[in-house]
Amino acid sequence: MSDTPRRIAVLPGDGIGPEVISEVAPLFECLGRAGVGAFEVETFDWGAERLLATGEAMPRDGFRRLAEFDAVLVGAYGDPRVADPDYLRRVLLAMRFELDLYANLRPVRCLEERLNPLKHVKAEEIDLVIVRENTEGMYSGAGGSVHANTDREVALQEMVVTRAGVERVVRLAFDLARTRRRSKVTLVDKANALPHAGALWQRVFEQVAADFPAVETEHLYADVAAMEMVRNPARFDVVVTENLLGDILSDLAATLGGGLGLAPSANLNPGHVSMFEPVHGSAPDIVGTGRANPIAAFATLAMLLRYLEAGGAADAVEEAIAATIRAGAVTPDLGGERTTSEVGETVRNITMERLGA
Ligand code: NAI
Ligand code: MG
Repeated sequence: MSDTPRRIAVLPGDGIGPEVISEVAPLFECLGRAGVGAFEVETFDWGAERLLATGEAMPRDGFRRLAEFDAVLVGAYGDPRVADPDYLRRVLLAMRFELDLYANLRPVRCLEERLNPLKHVKAEEIDLVIVRENTEGMYSGAGGSVHANTDREVALQEMVVTRAGVERVVRLAFDLARTRRRSKVTLVDKANALPHAGALWQRVFEQVAADFPAVETEHLYADVAAMEMVRNPARFDVVVTENLLGDILSDLAATLGGGLGLAPSANLNPGHVSMFEPVHGSAPDIVGTGRANPIAAFATLAMLLRYLEAGGAADAVEEAIAATIRAGAVTPDLGGERTTSEVGETVRNITMERLGA
């Protein structure tokens, strides 16, 4: 990693977001002191609290300000006190679109037999990454409705698929597969029922695959992929797919790794600012109880560090997570009795030990 400080924007957000981020964020300073990298961290108060106090969840030029950073670390958004159903869309979904964060990566590994929900496979067989197209597909927002609230009501929700949009995310999936032990990419679509979109995805997939002869390829329909992920997850390495299908499959996949308390994600736009967030939401049911598992946020930090070429630090965080889970020093969602801040302290301490700091 270069000596130029990396600029990190931290958005703790709502609910348990601030609780888990306050465990993770101190590591930036620890890593800096240990000489493992230099980080300049700026924290933003965007979210429900700000919305309720000022009428605005974030400043109007907010996304433009984020574009000046190397990476954004998000806690979670969503607050039951905010009635506006569009609130989450305007903060999180809008961020993905505005910053063109076109690839949503959701890696899943099952670190312990104890966390493995499948009786018929070994924990170590669960090791895959979903690469979800994040800016178009079913979530493009294209469409409309006519004759609302009448018997003649019609709603159209269009799937938007562009060659450029598919190519960049497929290429990223192949680049990623090349760095992994299995080196396999599975294209998941629903081309049997959605032939226009499916044909475009498949043509582009084949063209990109030709540039990666060492990477194994496979195609599955989404319904079969869902079944296979439960029946034989070892079949999967990198999975690339459309926005809606990826959203659904990645929740299924996260469960195979031991649940939301562990699952990290990255929203990438290589060469520009990228955003990293745990998969879980703001968990209003456990806010303030000390039961929030900060490990998903630590795993998210590891993804951020690796992306910023601080691979040694990322390895250390991941080893610390594995050691903490092995020791059973975990929150109730994983069957333990530790609090959010106890787990946080354990992971931070082991991380710094691993780095010899
Ligand atoms: P959720 O992920 O917040 O919670 C689902 C269940 O998992 C809850 O029982 C919660 O207590 C538990 N859980 C989640 N994260 C946990 C953690 N780190 N440790 C221990 N337990 C954890 O999803 P839910 O309840 O559907 O949504 C709550 C709010 O979050 C809503 O406002 C929703 O819109 C928002 N949301 C935000 C997301 C984001 O910021 N990326 C993603 C999903 C939901
Ligand atoms: Mg989802």
